[in-house]
Amino acid sequence: MKILVTGGAGYIGSVVSERLITQGHEAVIYDNLSKGHREAVMPEAEFIEADLADSRQLIKALEDHKIEAVIHMAAASLVGESVQNPQLYFRNNDVNGLNLLDAMLQIGIKRLVFSSTAAVYGAPETMPITEDAPQNPTNPYGESKLAFEKILRWYDEAYQFRYVSLRYFNAAGASERFGEDHEPETHIIPNVLRVAAGRMSHVSIFGEDYPTPDGTCVRDYVHVLDLADAHILALKATETGSRTYNLGYGSGYSVGEVVEMARQITGKWISTESAPRRAGDPPILIASPDKIMSDLGWSPRHSELDRILESAWRWHLSHPHGYGSANN
Ligand code: UFG
Repeated sequence: MKILVTGGAGYIGSVVSERLITQGHEAVIYDNLSKGHREAVMPEAEFIEADLADSRQLIKALEDHKIEAVIHMAAASLVGESVQNPQLYFRNNDVNGLNLLDAMLQIGIKRLVFSSTAAVYGAPETMPITEDAPQNPTNPYGESKLAFEKILRWYDEAYQFRYVSLRYFNAAGASERFGEDHEPETHIIPNVLRVAAGRMSHVSIFGEDYPTPDGTCVRDYVHVLDLADAHILALKATETGSRTYNLGYGSGYSVGEVVEMARQITGKWISTESAPRRAGDPPILIASPDKIMSDLGWSPRHSELDRILESAWRWHLSHPHGYGSANN
């Protein structure tokens, strides 16, 4: 199939595009490079540097490349930043997302895989989280993604617009070729590895007084390669109807456990410093992946945290300064 991948030069987008192409699909990457990297675009993919706010470019991209379905990953996606700057989140994730849907409708393309998030749930009491758990986001990021899911539901009802919404838990790890490179980096795993590599003196631990076994937040870290597989299955599933799935493994690790395991994997001492809680962080997020496993046959192959950290560390060592560095 011919797929438009918005955000395809980003961390998850690059690995999803790699998987699409290795499976014989054609990928057209649509990315404004505000967060993504030109070097993270597969050479086999067409690349369009443009913004989702630009309806004319969007329509042209969809028409020129005879796109059959869209994987929509372009978004602002940082919990902490969204609390400081909700305007950016509602504009990027909802207003620009609507631009995309309307361009698709104008041309008659009605198949979409949407990158949603565990942040739609807020801070649920019951773990693991199933898709029908109450949705009460604790930050504007989760709210913006939940709003878009609701838009999709009504577009399906009115226009037979078929979508699969994938609620990612914590994406982590790397493929051989593509990894995580944000500036500034706010995620725990790449930050811990930057300390191991000597690029940072220490990692701050945001909150050690959460109601968890060691007081630090617990997350369900899911390998980006398993996420990529789920997108391929989701794409196929848009043929038959619209659905929403969690993407996580059903097991959680605390920030303290991540640091400890990273020390073992890298063989380096990783200094930590206590810091206040970060606004908008729920204490525990663990997925129930049962629905996507039974409906679509998703069967994760990289679920051990040590393997996830190893793959991220390998990528880190081969790209010591991320993409675009003279040393790579
Ligand atoms: N953390 C630290 N120090 C750091 C970075 C993070 O202690 O330097 C902590 C955070 O406070 C949090 C945990 O590590 O408790 C994980 O934080 P990340 O920033 O790595 O990831 P988040 O859980 O905040 O968010 C990620 C994605 C979101 C997605 C969410 C779903 O960035 O897009 O997972 O669980 F919504």
